[in-house]
Order: sequence, then structure tokens, then C-alpha cells
Amino acid sequence: MPKRYTITAALPYTNGPIHIGHLAGVYVPADIYARYKRLTGNDVAFICGSDEHGVPITIKAKKEGVSPQDIVDKYHAIIKKSFEDFGITFDNYSRTSAKIHHDTASEFFKTLYDKHEFLEEVTAQLYDEEANQFLADRFVTGTCPKCGNEEAYGDQCENCGSSLNATDLINPKSAITGNVPTLKETKHWFLPLNKYEDFLKDWILKGHKNDWKPNVYGQVKSWIDDGLRPRAVTRDLDWGIPVPVSGGEGKVLYVWFDAPIGYISATKEWAAKEGKDWEPYWKDGNTKLVHFIGKDNIVFHCIIFPSMLKAEGSYILPDNVPANEFLNLEGNKLSTSKNWAVWLPDYLEDFPNQQDVLRYALTANAPESKDNDFTWKDFQARNNNELVAIFGNFINRVVVLTNKYYDGVTPEASELSQVDEETLAAVKAYPSVIESSIERYRFREASQELINLARLGNKYLADEEPWKLIKTDEARTKTIMFVALQIASALATLSEPFLPFTSDKLKKILNATDNSWHDVSSKITLLASGHQIGKGELLFSKIEDQTIQEQLDKLEASKKANEAANKTLEPQKDIITFEDFTKLDMRVGTILEAEKMPKTKKLLILKVDTGIDTRTIVSGIAESFTPEEVIGKQVTVLVNLAPRKLRGVESEGMILMTETSEGELVFVNPDTTVNSGLQIS
Ligand code: 2FM
Ligand code: ZN
Repeated sequence: MPKRYTITAALPYTNGPIHIGHLAGVYVPADIYARYKRLTGNDVAFICGSDEHGVPITIKAKKEGVSPQDIVDKYHAIIKKSFEDFGITFDNYSRTSAKIHHDTASEFFKTLYDKHEFLEEVTAQLYDEEANQFLADRFVTGTCPKCGNEEAYGDQCENCGSSLNATDLINPKSAITGNVPTLKETKHWFLPLNKYEDFLKDWILKGHKNDWKPNVYGQVKSWIDDGLRPRAVTRDLDWGIPVPVSGGEGKVLYVWFDAPIGYISATKEWAAKEGKDWEPYWKDGNTKLVHFIGKDNIVFHCIIFPSMLKAEGSYILPDNVPANEFLNLEGNKLSTSKNWAVWLPDYLEDFPNQQDVLRYALTANAPESKDNDFTWKDFQARNNNELVAIFGNFINRVVVLTNKYYDGVTPEASELSQVDEETLAAVKAYPSVIESSIERYRFREASQELINLARLGNKYLADEEPWKLIKTDEARTKTIMFVALQIASALATLSEPFLPFTSDKLKKILNATDNSWHDVSSKITLLASGHQIGKGELLFSKIEDQTIQEQLDKLEASKKANEAANKTLEPQKDIITFEDFTKLDMRVGTILEAEKMPKTKKLLILKVDTGIDTRTIVSGIAESFTPEEVIGKQVTVLVNLAPRKLRGVESEGMILMTETSEGELVFVNPDTTVNSGLQIS
């Protein structure tokens, strides 16, 4: 039965571009789901937009010396374009700075205020005296009282997912000045989440025990079991939606109050453009509302937003919140601030027309039930071993043979063998096999079933060997090719949610675009005899080691650049007197011999001509230089340092070195060749 679906994908913060973690966690599964629901004949509103308020944006603006508006304008455009180029089919991609959103969020707040759903309280909040500002959310970090993570934010700990009030943090520190905050009284409006405990227990803990993902259900249960507390929904900030009631001057709505309402305002904006009524998408009990989010957003979508909707009273609640876990990159946590990420705009530039490869690699390895790792090697293997060798290879063989044997005209099938019948029956079962995985939000499993269909095609051709039979049995060859073309046609339709660009290309090659998802399970013939297909074209191409190495090098370089940018200089040491300085005897030395200290990685044993004598110096430079590289080098030597034994070898002095911001050791040496023994003063 066709249904109405409101599908939302978390509104990304507009403080940077989209990266593969966002894609794998939220946008690729949401797009697969939305495409699949449309293909199966449902009425879909797939909604997203930029989350343009909140502290991360003001922090970024401060750092770059521009206004928050400049930041959101810049990243809204980048994010919107990259989603379009990547084939994410939002029905509307809006932004929370839009007037319709300000109006909708203000109205929502006022409704709750008029219904006396808020507590209005003056409480002591963290304050930065130097910055002259209250500290909430990401303006303050400290130790999480639940798990001990020392980098928890004022509203949430990203390590254990707990939702926090800034005053809960142990050892709080201002993210603006680094100062320890003081406490200052201020008035705010609180949503009494405790009042919704029974409703949440009934709705989620009883009602969704079996259909919500265990990771989502488990987190929600533990928060509810811990007991819920009132939560402030306003902030003392100047960036956001002004609090629309008396006494709210100079204050704004908490970003997590306004952002989810963004789903509603984006639906309104879309409906107005389409000439539709937005209300059924949010208020009709027959509509299925599904929120696609990452695990750090669970509390907001399963507890706070539903409590807001319940308090308002006229909205439906989500049917499911299929949150994913996190994706790591080459063994490390993805991080915008550390620039440890694969950014979508970069990918689109480096891999033109290869959107589906990334979509597939991220789906096949999606962090659905636990955190997962993206590696470029896996990306290459998914492309070369699955897309090229299985899917692409099957289509290529079918198209090449049809063109070669029949000038591209689909042949007549004569009597079907048992294998043919079984193969066609197996093809017909695929829509419901894939459907069953998608309905349980198991997109990895669904993507593997799609590849299994291509595998079935390959096995069929390999077993039936039309290229041999063409010489002896023309009629049988025609039947085989007819069956193979039906499989190719099924692939063109069923691949659409997962590999939309490939599906389009394949439909063009087959010159057939009109089969629906249900046709694959119900029609006898997807591609009729006599139908003319087009010329072959490769669907996928092999990715070489060199391409992968370039991406690995790029990551390494960005890590180094980031470390260099963040390298802090040591503070100056205590003052010494001139007499102290004159005690140091530094001379120009020349390295005469060098060898590696046996059984160590770091040490070189050097023979150095100091002008006064030739002496042994043990130096920890073996990881940066080979012995051959240092022989003949002039260096600065501290010659009157008390000798000490290193691994049984007496070292009589020290060579002066420094480390570049890229972490490379370099000698502190004279820039022209001089006599050994000259004093440095
Ligand atoms: O975590 C984030 O990136 C948030 N900007 C998600 C907001 S989702 C919704 F509620 F708006
Ligand atoms: Zn924690």
C-alpha cells in the first residue's frame, strides 16, 4: 500500500564541508531509503537543510575574523552543491536562517510558552569574565561526570553520548579564553523533560522495543532509566533566533530547540513551492516520520524533540530513528578540527563521475551496529573486486555479446530449461529480498544482495557458456541471452537506490527506463524480444594502486600540516646570568665518522673533530639521518657537558639540533665552512 513518508536527514552544521563520516552515517542511507520509497510508489518528502545557528559557527567565525553570516553563507553553498553533485535527492534543502524557519521556530516556542509548558527560572550559569559572555554548549569544555572524558562539551559528551548541562562539567574551561569560568545568575526557559518520562517509557521502551535498532533503543533506555531533568531551551548569545517572549531580550533559542523544527519549516517551504499542503506530512497519523542521524544526535531526536512535539500536541512522532554509529578513517577518529577526513568536495574533484563508488564503499562498510573504519584500500577493493569484477563484468558481457551476435536486438527465447526457470524465479525474488533488508534499515545487507544478483548473472553465463553454444545451438544461445538480458534489466532498476548514476547509465545502455521496482518481481519480461539495446560502455573502471597511494599521501600531508599549525612553542625558560652563559663551551665540530649503535633505532655513534680533540658523541638522530648523510657535516657541539654513558658507550658532548614544524630534525650549524674548534659566543 503506498504511504506518505516524511524522511529527514540531520541538518549539518555550516562550519565546514561534508565528509565521509557524515555521508556514511546519515546521508547515503537516508538517500537510499528515500529513493527506494519513491521507486516503490510512495509519497515522499525527503527533507534536510543547513543548521546555521549554534556555537560551532560562532567559534569558526571568530577564528577566521569574519561574521557568522559569512561562514554560513559560504558553507551552505558548498554543502548544498556537493550534496547535489553526489546525487542526494533531497526534495528540499533549506537553511535555518530562512525567514520561514525563524517564524516557525518562534511560533513553536510561543505555543509552548502560552501553554505553560516551560519552567522560567533564574539560575547560576557559567560565565567568562574576560570574554564577557555566558558559557554554554561548545563554548565550554570539561570532564564528563558520567564517563570521565576530559573533552566533553557544555551540552553533550561525545564520548558516552550523555546530554549535559554546562554546570554538570567537572573542571570547566572556557573555549574562548581558556579561563576557569565563574558563576553568574541569568533567566532561562526550561523544558521539564522529567514530565515526559512516562510518555517516553510508554512510546519507546514499550512501543519500539522490537523495531528500533538496539544501539538507539539501548541509549534511550539508559537515559530514561537514569531519570530526566529540565533542560534549558534558551541561551545568552547573540547568534540565533531571538526568544520571542517578554523578558527574552538579548537571548536566543537553544540551537537544539530550533534545529529539529527546521525539518518542519523545510517541509513548509517545499510544500509551498510544490503547491501542496505541508500539514499531512507532519500531522497525519498515517504518515511515517523517519529521522536519519548519527549516534551523537540520538538524545535530541528520541527524547528532546519528541517531548517538544508532544508538548505542542498536534504533531506525529517518529516511527523510527535509525541512527548509525561512527565511521573512522584509516584507524583514527574523523575530525574536522584536525583535518583528518575525506571531504566530499575533494572526493568529487579527485574522482570525477565516480560518485557511486564512494556510495557503494560507504554502504557496504556502513557503521550500522558498531563504529567502522574507512580505508582507501577497502575502497579500492570494493571497486575492483565487486563493482568492476562482478557488476560491471556481467553487464559488459551481456551487452557485448548481444551486440556481437544480434546487432543489439534482444533475441527470442525458445523453451526455457529448468536452470532458466530457476534463474528467472530467483531474479523475481530479489525486490522483496532487498526490500526486507531496507525495511529493517540494513543497508549493508541490502547492497550485498544487489551484488548477489549480479553474481547470479555471472554464474548463469559461466555455466551456460553462450560463447561456446553460438557455434552449435543458435536457439539455445538466444534463450540464454534473453535470460541474461532480463537479469541486466533487473539490475538497472534495483541498483537505483544504491548506485543511481550507474543505474541511469545502464538504463541508457539497455535503452529501457520504464520498469518499476515491482515490475521486477511481477513481470515475466523486463526487456522484450526485438527490443534494440544501445552500444556498450564500461560501468566502472579499475582503480590503480597509484591513485590510492595519492589519497594516502594527501591524508598524511594534511595530518602533518595540521600538527605543524597546532604545534605550540615551549614557554621561555628561567632567566640565566651572563656568568651562567659563559660556562657553556660551544664549538664548531666536524663529523668524521658515524655508525649505528647496535640494537637501537635512534642512536648514532659519531667521531667528531672539535678542534681540541677527536671525541665520541652519541646522538639520537638515527631516525632522521643515515651515517653516510652526516659524515663531513659541520655542527655545533657543546663540548664541556659532563660525559655520560649511553648503552655502554661514553658520550663526550652534545650536538645541537632543532626540529622543524614538520617534525624534521635539522642541524644547528654554521652556514659557511669554518675551522673546527672555533668558539660560538
Ligand atoms: O550534529 C549536527 O551536525 C547537528 N547540526 C544536527 C542537527 S539535526 C536537526 F535536529 F536539525
Ligand atoms: Zn561522557
